[in-house]
Amino acid sequence: MANAKKLRIAATADLHYGKHSQGKMQDLFAQVSREADVLLICGDLTDYGLPEEAELLAADLRLHLRIPVLAVLGNHDSESGQPEAVRKVMEDAGVTMLNGEATEVQGIGFAGVCGFGGGFGRRMLNAWGEPLIKAFVQEAIDQALRLEQALTQLQTEQRIVLMHYAPIRSTVEGEAPEIFPFLGSTRLEEPVNRFRVSAVFHGHAHNGTAEGASATQVPVFNVSAPLLQKHAPDKQPFRTFEL
Ligand SMILES: [Fe+2]
Ligand SMILES: [Fe+2]
Repeated sequence: MANAKKLRIAATADLHYGKHSQGKMQDLFAQVSREADVLLICGDLTDYGLPEEAELLAADLRLHLRIPVLAVLGNHDSESGQPEAVRKVMEDAGVTMLNGEATEVQGIGFAGVCGFGGGFGRRMLNAWGEPLIKAFVQEAIDQALRLEQALTQLQTEQRIVLMHYAPIRSTVEGEAPEIFPFLGSTRLEEPVNRFRVSAVFHGHAHNGTAEGASATQVPVFNVSAPLLQKHAPDKQPFRTFEL
């Protein structure tokens, strides 16, 4: 039986395009166009969440990228209160933005959300006490629900998840422990395990750890560009994965 052609996935995160970033990632985009079939950008596309910043990223993608792009927003993309405008700029550049949505590329399913914080394992924040704490926890619950809904839409045999925040503790290790609760949430891990996802890609923890695994051994990759540039042997701000 002939093997189906593998899908080469490139993934990165935390590009943080600012007003002077034009050309910043052009080498990355040119290289992944040669080495992969699809690019995932796992949030923090922009630095301050400004549509002008997104326009510069969109221009670089148009000029230098030759493969489909799937992306989720990060917390920085909400900083100016215009995440929908940032999303629109990216969509106009041909990027498939996932926010509780799913899509397929060459028979592989992809589901994406931004995610949220709240912390990990037995120490994670619970909805107890002040209304603000309850609202904070509710956002993490809602994001996990959105991920679950996105995964439910997929009929594919294999599923990939992209998110900005981390679903497990081990890929944020390296950051100061005081900020772990703001880097991700175990609530995001549950759908990953239940839907037997093939791999998760996330960003946000610029000083975290590049690889980890969920409780059911789903591989989890922190593809934050600053992290990969610091630690990867080839210093490339992305990683590739074949499925
Ligand atoms: Fe970031
Ligand atoms: Fe972030």
